[in-house]
Amino acid sequence: MLESKFTYVSLESDERIHGEYEAALIEVEREFGERHPIYIGGREVTARREFEARSPIDPGILLGTFQEGGEEAAREAIAAANEAFPDWSGRDWQDRVAIIRRAAGLIEDRRFWLAALITYEAGKTRYEALAEVGEAVDMLRYYCSIYEQSNGYVSSMHSPAPGEECRSVMRPYGAWAVISPFNFPIALAAGMITGALLTGNTVVFKPTSKTPLSGVILYRLFVEAGVAPGAINLVTGPGGPFGEVVVAHPDVAGIAFTGSRAVGEWLLRESTAEQPYHKPVVAELGSKNPVIVTASADIEKAVEGVVRAAYGFGGQKCSATSRVYVQSSVAERFIEALRDRVNRIEVGDPRRREVTYGPLIDDDARLTFQRAIEEAIRDGGRLVAGGEVLEGGLYGLGAYVLPTVITGLPHNHRLFGDELFVPILLLGTFESLEEGLRLANATDYGLTAGIFSEDPAEIRYFFDHIQSGVVYANRRGGATTGAWPGAQPFGGWKASGSTGRGAGGPYYLLSFVREQAQTLVTERY
Ligand code: SER
Repeated sequence: MLESKFTYVSLESDERIHGEYEAALIEVEREFGERHPIYIGGREVTARREFEARSPIDPGILLGTFQEGGEEAAREAIAAANEAFPDWSGRDWQDRVAIIRRAAGLIEDRRFWLAALITYEAGKTRYEALAEVGEAVDMLRYYCSIYEQSNGYVSSMHSPAPGEECRSVMRPYGAWAVISPFNFPIALAAGMITGALLTGNTVVFKPTSKTPLSGVILYRLFVEAGVAPGAINLVTGPGGPFGEVVVAHPDVAGIAFTGSRAVGEWLLRESTAEQPYHKPVVAELGSKNPVIVTASADIEKAVEGVVRAAYGFGGQKCSATSRVYVQSSVAERFIEALRDRVNRIEVGDPRRREVTYGPLIDDDARLTFQRAIEEAIRDGGRLVAGGEVLEGGLYGLGAYVLPTVITGLPHNHRLFGDELFVPILLLGTFESLEEGLRLANATDYGLTAGIFSEDPAEIRYFFDHIQSGVVYANRRGGATTGAWPGAQPFGGWKASGSTGRGAGGPYYLLSFVREQAQTLVTERY
């Protein structure tokens, strides 16, 4: 059912992939330095003010100049999306499937170019960037498959009375605001946009100002695939004024958001306050993902899985491991192996092949990192590895910090509970698995979690008791990261999500539709 060419590709050994990606790194630079408009109903619109986007690899690289769309741009885009809604929602659903499949094909054809763009704009290594593009392709195709299998969500129903035809039809709501984050600027944005468009809704797309160029490129790509101008609109600029307009606007039917808990909860609150009726908010928020390592674990496997999940893309994933709880009897062995492995991580310019860990997205993230280290040390934490900010030169000019492990903090310390979105892993110990689970569950969040254990009974206990939407056992390639469309529906429990339906899963599209029960009396009396 899932047409995937990317899953589990081993990049390390494929010279052709390295060659094409490296050529794309040069090719994509031609796109840089342009001035980009906002797109409303297919029209190119400029705003009174502009902003620049620069590469986190080196802020000397100007990626482009973008419009600071404010409230006026948001309102105009909402009007355009509503105007386009009757036509877009009224088409045969198979037409929309064909268009989204075309979009997936375009992303696939340009995978190296898009991966190079992600490297420049978000600072991802080639391994992370190519995986993200693959995830986007598979996400779009997976949603098309689900929609087709469900017959466009039209079902014949039982007809209790003679001469009546009954159907269930899942219908779109109207115009959706789609607000996307920097950490998966192509995959997560494309996934949310597709959730809305495929099911017949129209879209006002607002990419984060940290990665606006990916937003512009994605907008153009959906239009090239055949999405009608107006069915998708693009507003760049600050999140505040855009959010204020969309939560309160009666013609915004729903909001799809991936980002911080604070913003997500604000959207959820404000979109019900002072409204005639509430609008759906599909919110994928943060987390503080735990890993449990029991005494029965394969320590080498556990260390590798934790390192990949804690420091892949510098810990800037909502699925990143940020807490690890180790059974006391193996803690010393685990800590030694972890220190050794973390110190061997290749830090540097993510354009280089050997580098597996690049810069943070911006200087605010560096500050968060530094403040957390200071707070941890002040409160009795001990550095197992890392803890330092690197100055330019060898590593590049962006915000480069070392992957960090801290131990010795009390379990109820703020840093064990708050999401930081930087590469800091907190380590604690436990005596019994019951205690380990209690500690793992002691946060508001519940997105991903992992266990390393060679005992099936322990793994079963973990699956049964962990409060988390995406759970893994013994995953060497990433203890809590790397959910793939069609394999691991990616949705958070508790403060980590609003719908309980995972992205890339069989129920995701249902968040963008509402049921209409249709009864047609065919018999003449
Ligand atoms: N699939 C990514 C992960 O699991 C997030 O979208 O890390």
